[in-house]
Amino acid sequence: MQTTAEEIAALRRERNAVILAHNYERPEVQDIADFTGDSLELARKAAAVEADVIVFCGVYFMAETAAILNPSKTVLIPDETAGCPMADMITGAQLRELKAQHPGAAAVCYVNSTAEVKAECDICVTSGNAERVMATFPKDREIIFVPDRHLGSHIAEKLGVSYILWPGYCPTHARLTAKQVAAARAAHPGAPVLVHPECPKEVRDAADERLSTGGMCAFARTSPAQEFIVGTETGILHRLRHENPGKKFWPAAELVCPNMKKTTLEKVRDCLRDLSPVVTVPEEIAVRAKRAIDAMLSVG
Ligand code: 13P
Ligand code: SF4
Repeated sequence: MQTTAEEIAALRRERNAVILAHNYERPEVQDIADFTGDSLELARKAAAVEADVIVFCGVYFMAETAAILNPSKTVLIPDETAGCPMADMITGAQLRELKAQHPGAAAVCYVNSTAEVKAECDICVTSGNAERVMATFPKDREIIFVPDRHLGSHIAEKLGVSYILWPGYCPTHARLTAKQVAAARAAHPGAPVLVHPECPKEVRDAADERLSTGGMCAFARTSPAQEFIVGTETGILHRLRHENPGKKFWPAAELVCPNMKKTTLEKVRDCLRDLSPVVTVPEEIAVRAKRAIDAMLSVG
């Protein structure tokens, strides 16, 4: 009898499919993926896919971004209820209202947003390129930044500017406290503390590095340190440990994104077998959202 991983391998060939997975996915899902990465790396990969089918193991906005960037491909999401609560904290209508209150302001969205919100924006950012992208704006430009108030205030602080922020946040990263970071430091003295910029300010201030998930993987690879404290969703520990077998990685706290964990091997197999659920974005929204994503990708 075939294992689920073997069934997936056969279906992947039959369907001419590529499987992309986010760094927070379950270990067994990361293991069968063709590529595992952060939001920026996955968007770039999705845009370049030549296969007929993309199976996106991540949350809905990520699969939507793949469908927008590579519209001739069939984009599948193994569980279509895998949403990102932060992305759902602002609607297109709410952003339009905010823009009407600030005529002339540039509108910027974190890629953790719906296609409808991206369609209202001048440019997107991810946690991996936010500082680089936001540095392209003149310092005196009025800027609306949605939906993550933590990433927005982190970048504004770094660049010495201020943004009109939407009060959105990630419920998973919001749970990490400076007290937990201090306890992890006491337990693992000398280990650098890496946190995601979606963490609250007191946690970012208590850390040594504020990095995207891809940034954390790069940091761990090149740092001479042998132990690290990791303040983000614990799915990333699988990749960090796999890529750095001699090094130790300690979670700052048990942070789990329930939506990232909805993808199982069985659901990957079933979506390849059934070619469903398919992620589509209405043409009128996709065209405008693509402008904002392309503007981000062109910054490099
Ligand atoms: P990264 O782009 O850093 O992987 O972050 C995505 C995300 O959803 C973090 O919660
Ligand atoms: Fe969204 Fe937070 Fe989950 Fe990332 S970890 S997908 S921001 S809820």
